[in-house]
Amino acid sequence: MAKVIDGKQIRDEMLSELKGKVQELTEKGMQPGLAVVLVGEDPASKLYVGMKTKKCGEVGIYSEMHKLPETATEQELLQVIDQLNKDPRIHGILVQLPLPKHMSEKAVIDAIAVDKDVDGFHPVNTGNLQIGDDCFVPCTPAGIIELIKRTGVSLAGKHAVVVGRSNIVGKPVAMLLLQENATVTICHSKTENLAEVTKQADVLIAAVGRPGLLGKEHVKPGAVVIDVGSPQGDVKYEEAAEIASAITPVPGGVGPMTITMLLYNTVKSAEMALR
Ligand code: GUN
Repeated sequence: MAKVIDGKQIRDEMLSELKGKVQELTEKGMQPGLAVVLVGEDPASKLYVGMKTKKCGEVGIYSEMHKLPETATEQELLQVIDQLNKDPRIHGILVQLPLPKHMSEKAVIDAIAVDKDVDGFHPVNTGNLQIGDDCFVPCTPAGIIELIKRTGVSLAGKHAVVVGRSNIVGKPVAMLLLQENATVTICHSKTENLAEVTKQADVLIAAVGRPGLLGKEHVKPGAVVIDVGSPQGDVKYEEAAEIASAITPVPGGVGPMTITMLLYNTVKSAEMALR
């Protein structure tokens, strides 16, 4: 049976490391600050932003929530972002996605100051990730790499197969795996003979958002399996766990790491502001 990769335990390790850093920064007069912006009433989004600000409090990060009604205009949202860009208490700005249909996500993301873009979605950050320069790395991909490293799995020379090519997870995690010297393959909905490709993976990252898409026929014996699906996994856990060497559960695997990396990026931004 596979080792279960415990995202909550790794999260708790990282949170206690972060708490120490936050205290040091606060003593130097640079308490990290995060602004979370929520537009509309989507219940899942409300839950996520509540969890984000609550976790900030637990490690001593200052946070504020900006709620706009579903009917707000894009211009009104851009004004809020402009104020936050100029606010010295704020080191990170997170606009919860998805936005209402009448707003352009691209225009909104482009408006966030590059050095406060703790989601790592701004094109300057995505470009810097691609060329391997210092940047804010998107939270879920960064959390996946932390999980793999802190489990003691080495990536250099291994074949990593990513299933899914979203801008939030698939593409950036592929870049990070490449930076770790893995041999990287990206699969997606048009990939032919998916199981043939995923069966070659030493490290298999499932990030498609299709519950139970991947079963034991997709997993190489001894592989490390990371399941990003939420709230239901993309991997049939029970059967994959019989042949994998390590696997993340859903919930309790990747999920807890996403908010942790958001706090990590906020602390990093405050550290940069100190220099
Ligand atoms: N919606 C779903 N995931 C995310 C995320 O990582 N960041 C933001 N801002 N919105 C999201």
